[in-house]
Amino acid sequence: MKTDDARLEQVAVKREQYPEPDVYEFAFAGRSNVGKSSFINAMLGRKNLARTSSSPGKTRTINFYRVSDLRLVDLPGYGYAKVSKTERNSWAGVINTYLENRENLLEVLLLVDIRHEPSELDKAMYDYLIANGHSGLVIATKADKISRGQYQNHIAKIQKKLGIKNRDNIIPFSSVDKKMVDEMWDIFEDIVGF
Ligand code: GTP
Ligand code: MG
Repeated sequence: MKTDDARLEQVAVKREQYPEPDVYEFAFAGRSNVGKSSFINAMLGRKNLARTSSSPGKTRTINFYRVSDLRLVDLPGYGYAKVSKTERNSWAGVINTYLENRENLLEVLLLVDIRHEPSELDKAMYDYLIANGHSGLVIATKADKISRGQYQNHIAKIQKKLGIKNRDNIIPFSSVDKKMVDEMWDIFEDIVGF
């Protein structure tokens, strides 16, 4: 995928602020700090187009990144304990409104940290995505933090917790070494049917 023209097209909280539903969108869901914004930067070949942070709760809006005839959509993270319940509920509302109403939303991928067992919220999100006809592709982030020999062991734990039928649906990814970027674009292009 040619990503030279990648840009932040729109920042939204409410439905009225979403850009026109004129191109397909891929959205990325996952708990705060799992690496959603970093994933988007890696895919777009940019260091800091999507703002990242070592402290969770960085992305609080829906950010629409336009690349060619697609959008990559950065969602706020869930499960961040250090904000008030009201704020957590309002972020959940922002995420759910998008997921439930976006007609041009082609696929939602769930991001989980390859090192940790997914949480109950991850499981709930995974079940929701499957129930809504998504493919159930899971990106296991921060793969550079473990050795390659450990991948299968960690992937097996993610598979078991989320109840994933096909282990191949869990894709190890690192935003640091970027080895998987081209393969990931191939997967996205397959989904779009380019
Ligand atoms: P919220 O916006 O808070 O929901 O977080 P996020 O999911 O967008 O996470 P973000 O991309 O901001 O990354 C969180 C932290 O993890 C940052 O310090 C990143 O540098 C780090 N990080 C993300 N991906 C990777 C990765 O693949 N490898 C390593 N080593 N660190 C990563
Ligand atoms: Mg973010």
